[in-house]
Amino acid sequence: ERSALDAPPSTPPPPMILTQEDLKRIAAYKAVDFVESGMVLGLGTGSTARHAVARIGELLRQGKLSDIVGIPTSKKTEEQALSLGIPLSDLDAHPVIDLSIDGADEVDPGLNLVKGRGGSLLREKMIEGASKKFVVIVDESKMVKHIGGSRLALPVEVVPFCWRFTAEKLREVMEGYGGCEARLRLGGGGERGEEAFVTDNGNYIVDMYLEKDMGDLNEVSDAILRLPGVVEHGMFLGMASTVIVAGELGVKIKNK
Ligand code: 5RP
Repeated sequence: ERSALDAPPSTPPPPMILTQEDLKRIAAYKAVDFVESGMVLGLGTGSTARHAVARIGELLRQGKLSDIVGIPTSKKTEEQALSLGIPLSDLDAHPVIDLSIDGADEVDPGLNLVKGRGGSLLREKMIEGASKKFVVIVDESKMVKHIGGSRLALPVEVVPFCWRFTAEKLREVMEGYGGCEARLRLGGGGERGEEAFVTDNGNYIVDMYLEKDMGDLNEVSDAILRLPGVVEHGMFLGMASTVIVAGELGVKIKNK
C-alpha cells in the first residue's frame, strides 16, 4: 500500500485550481478589508456580494468589527444580513453611505459597469450613488472592452403598465445606438417560469440584447432615461471608485 510518504521529496505540490466561486470569494474578502467599525455600509446583491455580506457578518460575530449599519440593496440581501445579525437601516435614515460593496455583470476599462442581471439595479443605483466609496468585486470573466458588447443583456427596469409599449420605444431609441432586441425578463412564476420577473419595487425588467457597441454611453443613458415608463437602466457610469478583480494569477485593484 502506498502512502504520501512514498512520494519523492522533490515532487511539487499539485497546482491549485481556483473555481469561479473561489475568485468571487477572494474579491469579496479583499473588499471587506476596506470596512471599518462605525461605518454605514451599502450591501450589494448577487453571488459575489453574498460573500462580502457573509464576511461582514463573520467579522461582527468575532468582534473584529462593531457599530456597523448595513443598507441592503435588495430583499434577498436584507434576508441574508438579518440572518447574520447585521444591523440594518435605509437611505432615508442614512442618506450618506460610507462604503458600498457590490458585484457587477460587466466592467469596462473606464470602470463603467453593467449591473442588474440579478434584477436589483434600481436600489443598487440609489444606494451606491449615495456612497462616498463604491467598491466593485468581480472575477476576471466580467472584464470587457465595451459594456453591453458581450451579447449579454443590458437590463432596464420599467413600470408594468403597458410594458410592451415601453419595450418598443426602447427598441426604437436603440436603433440610433447600434440596435437591440428588447425582451421582457421572465422567471417570476408560473409552471414553466413563464410569468414576468417582478423586481423588489413591483416593476418589470426589459433586457436589451445589443447588436453592437453602443458608442457614447452617457448619450445612450440620457436617451433611455427620457422615455416615460422607464424607471432606471443597468449602466452604472463613472460610479465605481474601485474595482477588485480576482483572477487565476491574483487580485488586481483598479482605482478611478
Ligand atoms: C444584481 C447585480 C449583481 O451585482 C450582478 O448581477 C452580479 O452578480 P453576480 O455576482 O451573481 O455575478 O447587479 O442586480
